[in-house]
Amino acid sequence: MKARIAAAALTLLCFIPQARTQDSNLYWMKIRANDKFQRSVVADTGVSIEAVREDFVTATGTLEEKEALEKLGWVEVSFTIGAEMMAFPGQDAAYHDYPELTQKVQDLQKTYPQILKVTSIGKTNENRDIWALRISGNLAQADNLPAVIYMGGHHAREHLSVELPLFYAEYFLSEYTKGNPRIVNLLNGRDVHIIPAVNPDGLEYDISGGRYKLWRKNRARNSDGTFGVDLNRNYGYQWGTGGSSSNPGSDTFKGPKPFSEPETQAIKAYVEAHQNISTLLSFHTFSELVLYPWGHKYNGIDNNRDFQVHKVMAEKMSEWNGYQPMQSSALYQASGDTTDWSYGEHGIVSFTFELDPTNSGWGGSDGFYPGAGVIPAVQQKNLEPVLYLLQYADNPYRVLEFNINPIP
Ligand code: ARG
Ligand code: ZN
Repeated sequence: MKARIAAAALTLLCFIPQARTQDSNLYWMKIRANDKFQRSVVADTGVSIEAVREDFVTATGTLEEKEALEKLGWVEVSFTIGAEMMAFPGQDAAYHDYPELTQKVQDLQKTYPQILKVTSIGKTNENRDIWALRISGNLAQADNLPAVIYMGGHHAREHLSVELPLFYAEYFLSEYTKGNPRIVNLLNGRDVHIIPAVNPDGLEYDISGGRYKLWRKNRARNSDGTFGVDLNRNYGYQWGTGGSSSNPGSDTFKGPKPFSEPETQAIKAYVEAHQNISTLLSFHTFSELVLYPWGHKYNGIDNNRDFQVHKVMAEKMSEWNGYQPMQSSALYQASGDTTDWSYGEHGIVSFTFELDPTNSGWGGSDGFYPGAGVIPAVQQKNLEPVLYLLQYADNPYRVLEFNINPIP
């Protein structure tokens, strides 16, 4: 975010604690909740749960949501999220803002034209292009190769989730070109799709003015004058069946209808246009988890083979990144997320990673804003999981061959 350093420095010099903007009066809360059922009650109020512990969660929410939880007597601590709790984007220049991301993607296209095709898969509310990078050793035949899709940046404040897919794109391109045999072999037989920033409007809003805003949603103009739909509650599979909000001001607002947003529409159309996609990974932050469907209900995937393939792959990937594998509803119920749709509608073997860190300190800002220093280590620890999903895209069910339950 080089362009922002000057602005940030200026802000630093004349730093005045400042109330949050009118459309985002948020509270940070520590809420008592002992199990997934109580956590789902919490999620149902519309707050966005950020960290889950044995007997409490931390979450951000509106005044109304806080009051609803206070009625239950579950709020242990709460305070407004003030600008003084936020770091300055200028210290985090290593992260890519949208203009830098766009420049980077265009530079990659110039450097690696034989194995990369960059396209815009749609425009956001604020008219930004949503970039997709398609990478293959055999682009001409890519439609006939097994495909994987990686995405990041559904949530505005989760900047680290943009840095990973972007890094892997460059890693694939440069290692292939250098002749790294493992990457050459993989990419010659695969079709790779990378969408580093699904929500560029939110990303830019979160860092506008040189200070973080702890923004989550996109920047849709809602009917009541508030802003934003939670893109990870807007996908059209079992949409609105729990853990999302009908209140436009909520951080987990599901939108007026399934796929109401240009960003989720773009992903939908893109995935539908690439029927060869068999594995999917959506990066989020934070908590250090490997999540798999279902999110909208507590039951596991009915089809045992499908359940097993998710469980076995999640556990394998956890060995590399050290994250905790689990069904996403074991955390709390939430409907309309990417992976319930991609698996439920398309049968794609689908995962959500909640990246580092595990914890946020008081104020909660360092969970989403862990600093630039963590980027390389998080990229490295997730490289093997990323390659694993690429490798097994030809037939993810191959992983079960080594895990057949013994017949009693
Ligand atoms: N933390 C992410 C979100 O709130 C992932 C949710 C995954 N699904 C779930 N049912 N917990 O969008
Ligand atoms: Zn997220």
